[in-house]
Amino acid sequence: MRTIKIFDTTLRDGEQSPGVNLSQKEKVEIALQLERLGVDLIEAGFAAASPGDFASVQAVAKAVKNSSVVSLARSVKKDIDAAREALKDAEHPCLHIFLATSPIHREYKLCMTKEQVLEQAAEAIAYGKKFFSEIEFSAEDAGRTELDFLVEVAQMAVKNGATVLNLPDTVGYLTPAEYAHIFKYVAEQVPDLGKLRLSAHCHDDLGMAVANSLAAVEAGVGQIEGTINGIGERAGNAAIEEVAVAIETRKDFYPAATRLNLREIARTSRLVSKLTGMFVPGNKAVVGANAFAHESGIHQDGMLKNEATYEIMRPELVGHDRTNLVLGKHSGRHAFRERLKDLGYTLADEQVNQLFVRFKKLADRKKTMDDDDVIALVEERLDDSAEIFSLEYFHLSYGTQSVPTATVRVTYKGEQVIGEAACGNGSVDAIYKAIDRVVGVDVELVDYKIASVTHGKDALGEVFVQLRKDGVTVQGRGVSTDVLEASARAYIEAVNRLFVRLGHDSRPAAVGAVAGASALGS
Ligand code: KIV
Ligand code: ZN
Repeated sequence: MRTIKIFDTTLRDGEQSPGVNLSQKEKVEIALQLERLGVDLIEAGFAAASPGDFASVQAVAKAVKNSSVVSLARSVKKDIDAAREALKDAEHPCLHIFLATSPIHREYKLCMTKEQVLEQAAEAIAYGKKFFSEIEFSAEDAGRTELDFLVEVAQMAVKNGATVLNLPDTVGYLTPAEYAHIFKYVAEQVPDLGKLRLSAHCHDDLGMAVANSLAAVEAGVGQIEGTINGIGERAGNAAIEEVAVAIETRKDFYPAATRLNLREIARTSRLVSKLTGMFVPGNKAVVGANAFAHESGIHQDGMLKNEATYEIMRPELVGHDRTNLVLGKHSGRHAFRERLKDLGYTLADEQVNQLFVRFKKLADRKKTMDDDDVIALVEERLDDSAEIFSLEYFHLSYGTQSVPTATVRVTYKGEQVIGEAACGNGSVDAIYKAIDRVVGVDVELVDYKIASVTHGKDALGEVFVQLRKDGVTVQGRGVSTDVLEASARAYIEAVNRLFVRLGHDSRPAAVGAVAGASALGS
């Protein structure tokens, strides 16, 4: 049985998804969960790309102990130096150097000959070797590179001391058979390649990233690269959870295993979805809300008789085995605390108390709260964004024939209550304009998404917003039985983060009206 290493690049390739912008703290939170999931390598970022990326790689390197922490670097000394510095506290550091090899990249992007590519890559690996014992070399766009040139690239990587050779299908162009052939061909032509670990890195432009990764396993690679939920550039990367669960479920076919703790998959998927704001489609394999749901009568009947009729794996395998014992408005603090523990949250008493207050308010409006509701509530409140502004209430006047008008009351720094009103193009717009007046800072709403946490008329609605100001993008999430309230909460959370990120200590003095002094405030 071969062990396949899992190289997670959620924080690097995944963060390259359009609209995704993770803070350093969020990256560390994801990295620690990836460590719990048991991934072998965590690509924390591209240290030379920006000071923010550098700091994130450094923070992940300090926090993670069991997985290897990786930084990407172009094949230049400056990038390798940045990676080295950022990774200096890592328990198991790994340098990931890349250079494109395909004719189209050589000619148009790099303006380099084959010889120049080989020379630059060799120099970079040799330089990196002075500081790192683990070095992965990636031949970017290997999928469209001449096979014989890939053989030369592989020989160069072996000769200069790379420990991993990655042959990515950068543009998601190949079929499984073609991708497998590349690995087999190169391995046959370069007998010394056995000294290295071969790695597969697939993109999903034609929807074949997972199939291609599995074909690479069949062809003998020792490592698969991908992201949680398959997020990433364009159509994304191979979804790690799908690859790992396929290997486990079809171990009769793949004589291989990963070291992942598959039971952490559901939690990891939820965390990545929450922090990136990329919702997981209901029908997504392994982690979609419907992945283990059975709708039709015939299927339900089969399931009741024998689960294997329609289920090839049990939901517990990937951590979907929550009790779904419902809590309601009569549930006490003790039951609530116990449920949080069962769901894997270890929280301080004060956090539990705060959450309990929110839980009671929601349970008053929603008959029952199941595990997904409780998780959504906890994850909304676990953010450490300073509560500069917090929503007291809003009132909305809205009708199909009238202009939506919102009145909001917001507590500022826990003391001052500010009331404002505004009209908008729609109800959410009116609420946001009123909040803007309270805050006194113009922000750009970059993204707004809404989803329901569970099913049914009283399902919790979850809103995700992204705001931008002065080049800083932040996100916020809000959860409520009422989508307008969830929208207001998400916006205020994002505003709080923006104030922290922009170093605003206080709202501009002359804006808004203090309750009591304002006609709207009382
Ligand atoms: O897709 C790709 O080629 C990459 C490399 C940097 C490995 O992400
Ligand atoms: Zn990639």
